[in-house]
Amino acid sequence: MSDTANISVTVNGETTAAAVPVRQNLVDFLRNTLGLTGSHVGCEHGVCGACTLEVDGAMVRGCLMLAVQADGAQITTVEGYGDRAEALRAAFVEHNALQCGYCTPGMMASALEYVEAGGQADRAAIREHLSGNYCRCTGYQSIVDAVCDVIEGESA
Ligand code: FES
Ligand code: FES
Repeated sequence: MSDTANISVTVNGETTAAAVPVRQNLVDFLRNTLGLTGSHVGCEHGVCGACTLEVDGAMVRGCLMLAVQADGAQITTVEGYGDRAEALRAAFVEHNALQCGYCTPGMMASALEYVEAGGQADRAAIREHLSGNYCRCTGYQSIVDAVCDVIEGESA
């Protein structure tokens, strides 16, 4: 069996073909081959959420998916959320919902998923939804505040 496989993926609207090591995970491919370093790598075991990104409309752990499994997929990373995340970005800044920023790309992905699914400004529900994203700096309060603000702003 070959150690590499040819894949074609569309990342943030741009289609790329590449030969990837069959054991390389998706987040390493995005970071190391495509230079999209916005998706972070923490635990590499599906626990911390730093690598969370969107594949075919679902938020997934980039460390738990092989690059070859993404063949043919539409992928969006923090570099590509664009207008979809404008309100969240502003709210994160306003509430100081990031400090070192390491968790932020994954946190934004999960928060965006919650908001776009029509999630309510319910602090417990937001905490539950973000519970797979670890933050060592903020204590989460400001992150929950930011997500609440976005939802309340949209429903006002
Ligand atoms: S690096 Fe993927 S969940 Fe931690
Ligand atoms: S802002 Fe540092 S880990 Fe969340």
